Amino acid sequence: MTHQYLQVNQSGPLSGSVDLFGAKNGALVIMTSLLLTEGVSTLYNVPNSTDVQLMIKLLESLGALITFSVETHVMKVDTRSLHSETICPSVMNKMRASILAMGPLLARFGKAIVANPGGCLIGARPIDYHLKGFKTLGVAIEETTHSIIGTMSVNSNLNNRIIFEYPSVGATENILMAATLLPGQTTIINAALEPEVLDLILVLKKMGAQIETSAPATIIITGVSQLYSIEYEILPDRLEAGALLLAAAMTKGSITLNNARPYDMDIFLLKLQEMGHTIITTPGKQGITFHSTEDPQAVSFKTGPYPGFPTDLQAPMMAVQAMARGSCVVEETVFENRLMHVRELQKMGAHITMINNQTAQIKGVDTLYGAEVIAPDIRASCALVLAGLAAEGKTKIIGLHQWQRAYDGLEKKLIFLGANLEIIQEG
Ligand code: UD1
Repeated sequence: MTHQYLQVNQSGPLSGSVDLFGAKNGALVIMTSLLLTEGVSTLYNVPNSTDVQLMIKLLESLGALITFSVETHVMKVDTRSLHSETICPSVMNKMRASILAMGPLLARFGKAIVANPGGCLIGARPIDYHLKGFKTLGVAIEETTHSIIGTMSVNSNLNNRIIFEYPSVGATENILMAATLLPGQTTIINAALEPEVLDLILVLKKMGAQIETSAPATIIITGVSQLYSIEYEILPDRLEAGALLLAAAMTKGSITLNNARPYDMDIFLLKLQEMGHTIITTPGKQGITFHSTEDPQAVSFKTGPYPGFPTDLQAPMMAVQAMARGSCVVEETVFENRLMHVRELQKMGAHITMINNQTAQIKGVDTLYGAEVIAPDIRASCALVLAGLAAEGKTKIIGLHQWQRAYDGLEKKLIFLGANLEIIQEG
């Protein structure tokens, strides 16, 4: 049996400029939002990650007809012949974002049958906010051993306030989509306002939805009777941008990301500047140019909901801190089990001490060493690639599927910028 892994070799400074693909997380939710429409929509700049391929399978199993060109990144989705409200359990078990089809199905057909979602093991990741929110919208929820059945009550005539204890990205997106086609007004309080949520709002408005945002973190949706197909370009991936900037930092390089949106990444860029790196941007415009410092300083950081430091860049940032001068503390506040990469970085010589399950102290070292490591989750795979770029010798990363779930050929972009890594087929 053949198996594949990533081999990363110590690399010189990265240099050059590249474009980012569309955001994987943005693409997934926008794909599910098309279930709200009846027609043919076109999405541009869709990344070809395995999660996007899984979402294609999910939508096809509901009756959508999809064409996706991995060369041009253009996807056409025809939702005129949807025939099912059941989300395929085999896809659902592999990808948590499958739950994002529940809101659109409830809105369009009044019914949705889902299994408990799978995905990365970075925390308990319940879906209680989603289900409580649906109940407030008038959905009866029946939970059986293998499935959750949601049924919209016929006389759902609403003026509802949904208050999230925590600004969950997925729950905000799901309720937002479910409310677009319901009569009356739905107000979401303490909503997540990540760039991908704001992009979804733009998409829904383009479809004909009535949505307003107001401070503090409130989204008001006034239901309409129909939504229409759209053409839309997925926003550039801020997490791919983060990975590339950190790869340049790790190799003491200089790169430009032509279409990166600096205004989506303020705190992350601030932390890079505190390390001593130079960031060049033009206010209100796309594009980030990065020049690495020769002597990076360690900086402490704590993840949080947007506009806080993104939890999805915590693991990659930690790899960079492992070789910075001095020591720092990293606190993960979004997920309770998202420091699994620490053990793998330690195998490479990183000096990291766990203070508790969600907090670690890092003392920078001069040298990391290539080792055989395992990617425990999708963003951890990026942390290990970054560590491998600076480590002496070769790093073998098992768990290529984690890397491919998150990124579309990011290894090719890194190679183009001068990194030394490859996907090895064995057996
Ligand atoms: C999304 C992103 C993921 C990112 C995360 C936080 C997608 C496909 N994934 O995940 O990459 O890391 O936002 O920015 O967009 N929670 C509950 N109950 C719920 C829902 C969430 O307790 O019903 C908790 C979670 O366990 C977690 C926290 O809320 O501790 C944040 O999760 P959430 O924002 O919902 O993340 P996702 O939408 O799953």
